[in-house]
Amino acid sequence: MIEPHKDLLQIEDLSKEEIESILAAAQPFKELFKRSVKKVPTLQGKTVLSLFYEPSTRTSSSFEVAANRLSADFTSLPVASSSVVKGESVLDTVDTLGAMKADYIIIRHKKAGIPNLIASHTDASVINAGDGFHAHPTQALLDASTLYDAFGTLEFKDKKILIVGDILHSRVARSTSRILSMLGAEVRVLGPGSLVPPGRPKKMKNFQHYNEAMDWSPDVIYLLRVQFERQGEQFFPSSNEYHSVYGLTEDRLKTVKDKGIWVMHPGPVNRGVEISDSVMKYERCLINNQVENGIATRMAVLYWLKPKTL
Ligand code: CP
Repeated sequence: MIEPHKDLLQIEDLSKEEIESILAAAQPFKELFKRSVKKVPTLQGKTVLSLFYEPSTRTSSSFEVAANRLSADFTSLPVASSSVVKGESVLDTVDTLGAMKADYIIIRHKKAGIPNLIASHTDASVINAGDGFHAHPTQALLDASTLYDAFGTLEFKDKKILIVGDILHSRVARSTSRILSMLGAEVRVLGPGSLVPPGRPKKMKNFQHYNEAMDWSPDVIYLLRVQFERQGEQFFPSSNEYHSVYGLTEDRLKTVKDKGIWVMHPGPVNRGVEISDSVMKYERCLINNQVENGIATRMAVLYWLKPKTL
């Protein structure tokens, strides 16, 4: 029996059955997008507020499209020109917005745990759109949804996923590795020792070298963005060095094509660092599918959660 959840804060709060239920709910929305009218009245009269304290293109715009397609009233607070710059705290901002009777609050913040704090403070459903290094649950759900389409099944047993890059700073690595493991996949990581802390993500085996990882024959290579903006120090000698040792180079792409390996990346990409230009044109590159599935998956999350305001 699946109990309704008020908030979506981290994948760890969901059971496998609940994850499958959200992913199943996303499928009819994907079908809806093939029609000329892509809108349903599901959340008519409901209010969705979006608060992004960190930059975003994909997550912020896809939540807006998702809310609009569900016929909700969507408002995005322009944080950079709001009273936040006068020093208003996150909780005071949420109280102010709460007085406007929001039903859903979508929040991205550089500090881990802020969405959890807000969730305990409001009757609105809170959706974590990324908090510090901690979690990005809707990214994990859309990644699983994308692999559901690619594999043609939600049974990921026997599937091998290689996550490559900046694990240390990546909330995506934490959330996506968790969901894929819960769905039965074997997840391993590859990256410079300075960016792959031992034992994180939990109990995941690390590779030291690309060739060793390719010999494992992964079904998917999931590239992570090198998060230069979160790095207060130099974690590797240079971008060129990183590209040659850990990047999906033109040379490595030949092997990837030969083996029919799927390629994913949460975006935005650093071309010439973790990825080379020609990967973007590879037929098994799922980066645009991930963006497209972000809308249906976020519609499913909005549909699935139950705010206390309703
Ligand atoms: N993947 C992701 O979170 O992208 P944005 O930062 O553009 O939202």
